[in-house]
Amino acid sequence: MQQSKQAKPLPYNDPAHWDKMVAAYEAQSQPFTTLFADAAVARLPIGPSSKVIDVATGTGAAALAAARSGADVTAIDFSAGMVARVRAHGLPNIEARQMDGQALDLPDAAFDAAVSVFGVMLFPDWRAGLREMARVTRPGGSAAIAVWKSADGAAVHLLLSQIIRRLYPDTVTPMPVSGLAELADPTRLGTAVVAAGFSDPDVTEITHDFKLNVANPADVDKLFEFMPHWSGLDADQSAAVAHALRSEIEQRRVGDSFAIPSTALIATARRP
Ligand SMILES: C[S@@+](CC[C@H](N)C(=O)[O-])C[C@H]1O[C@@H](n2cnc3c(N)ncnc32)[C@H](O)[C@@H]1O
Repeated sequence: MQQSKQAKPLPYNDPAHWDKMVAAYEAQSQPFTTLFADAAVARLPIGPSSKVIDVATGTGAAALAAARSGADVTAIDFSAGMVARVRAHGLPNIEARQMDGQALDLPDAAFDAAVSVFGVMLFPDWRAGLREMARVTRPGGSAAIAVWKSADGAAVHLLLSQIIRRLYPDTVTPMPVSGLAELADPTRLGTAVVAAGFSDPDVTEITHDFKLNVANPADVDKLFEFMPHWSGLDADQSAAVAHALRSEIEQRRVGDSFAIPSTALIATARRP
């Protein structure tokens, strides 16, 4: 009989995890999250002289989009590595600061607009993250919050979850990230935004393909590192999932690219 492997703890709450990810995130994830960040920022009424905060900025997708509008941007992240990467752009209208998004070291009503793209949803206390966004937004200001529409997230997480669910529907539970699960629904997202102190929520859906490069078979094996559930499967199940993944890639690849359609919800709201 096969032994189940021990499930690994999730790394998302550890800044050291994100510090190690900076280069890979910038190369592989930011081009994809930028598609959603641009859409979120475009929904904010900002321009030159607006003050904008980007919460959980990562390598700066939303901060860079807001800065292009001429706004003065404060980009915060709890990962020193991510903050250093944003600072390295050397843009005069982006100030990057290391900070926990659940307890911002910033005054009330300091910003005209607040944005968080695939950030607050990961916080253990995502409600505090949303409340902090509302607290630092001035009355009459606005916010845009992007989350995934699936509790399984997007891109590689989503693909692997879909395959594992298909093969082992009783084995896989959603990723144990409460904000990801709770906010992956337009009504619940709108309700959460209002509970945090915003009003007039408007939730829109947007889908883009994550283009997975499948040129190198060794890279396909590495995909399983992304998958928290993967570590809970036994050896036979792991082999079956790997086989299903490879055949799906072979059937649907276009050249060296394999598209994983991923849908986000973007909530915009106003600070009363
Ligand atoms: C999925 S990335 C999103 C980055 C960026 N917003 C984007 O769309 O590309 C999540 C980011 O949240 C940051 N993060 C996670 N927990 C945080 C917290 N409690 N406070 C501040 N940043 C946090 C991570 O360091 C990481 O940079």
